[in-house]
Amino acid sequence: MNLKSPTPDSKPGRLADRVALITGGSRGIGLAIAQACAREGAQLIVVGRDRKALDNAAKRVSGAVSFAADVTDESDVRRLFQFMQRQFGRLDILVNNAGVFIYKPFTRTTLSDWNRNLGSNLTSLFLVTQALLPLLERSSKPHIVNILSIAGRVAFPKCSAYCASKFGALGFTRVLAKELRPKGIRVTAILPGATSTRMADEFDFPVDRKKLLQPEDVAEAARAAMLQPARATVDEIFLTPSQGDIAATTKGKKRR
Ligand SMILES: NC(=O)c1ccc[n+]([C@@H]2O[C@H](COP(=O)([O-])OP(=O)(O)OC[C@H]3O[C@@H](n4cnc5c(N)ncnc54)[C@H](OP(=O)(O)O)[C@@H]3O)[C@@H](O)[C@H]2O)c1
Repeated sequence: MNLKSPTPDSKPGRLADRVALITGGSRGIGLAIAQACAREGAQLIVVGRDRKALDNAAKRVSGAVSFAADVTDESDVRRLFQFMQRQFGRLDILVNNAGVFIYKPFTRTTLSDWNRNLGSNLTSLFLVTQALLPLLERSSKPHIVNILSIAGRVAFPKCSAYCASKFGALGFTRVLAKELRPKGIRVTAILPGATSTRMADEFDFPVDRKKLLQPEDVAEAARAAMLQPARATVDEIFLTPSQGDIAATTKGKKRR
């Protein structure tokens, strides 16, 4: 945990009164969303497992607080709730972004691969959302943004565990949206295509990263959803690289 006070030069923005928590905020898409929210003046809490990466991220996000937790671990998530309750007493924006990606044919996918994908990409949404809901209910502008994937709607070979987790996460998000709408809690699913983060290293072929989405593109979609007036909810955003899916970004022959 690393408590920092807001930098004196931070200007009030359109999210100035909001407390925003981002799981997996230490790098990649989560870090870009944290930076976008901070530029709008939100108070950020970034969550991840690696303390060093979190400290690094906290330095790159104005006024951010970091909290080390494994979002697949019930007791860590309970600690996160207690910390948030003590420090802030409420939560306005929850971004469920933490996730992992395994690229393997089904026949080589182990139970451990399967459990890691399901735990990080699906069960974590259940744990974190259920734990933090009481704090969102104290907000006047509560919003949950789940970072899913186009693999939540499209089947990709060598992605059985990942697709299963993201299809499940999309179903979960859609139910959540219906159950929480009467409480005034907005729920948005963002489904990005291939994005240039550490995850792109998992493919077994060389990828032209310039043709992928950049983390900032996904962050911009999240920011746009957050900035809608309270009367408007963005249900789902399906965001893909303009030059085509990952196959079209292949540089040459297989790597392994
Ligand atoms: N990159 C893509 O092509 C792409 C496309 C569509 C959707 N997405 C989705 O976008 C999200 C972010 O991915 P990314 O590309 O930004 O990946 P990334 O660069 O690998 O970042 C993943 C983040 O999640 C955190 N994390 C992973 N497991 C965690 C756990 N159990 N508890 C707490 N934090 C955890 C990581 O920190 P620690 O490892 O330190 O915990 C890191 O901060 C994921 O849900 C991913 O499925 C990515």
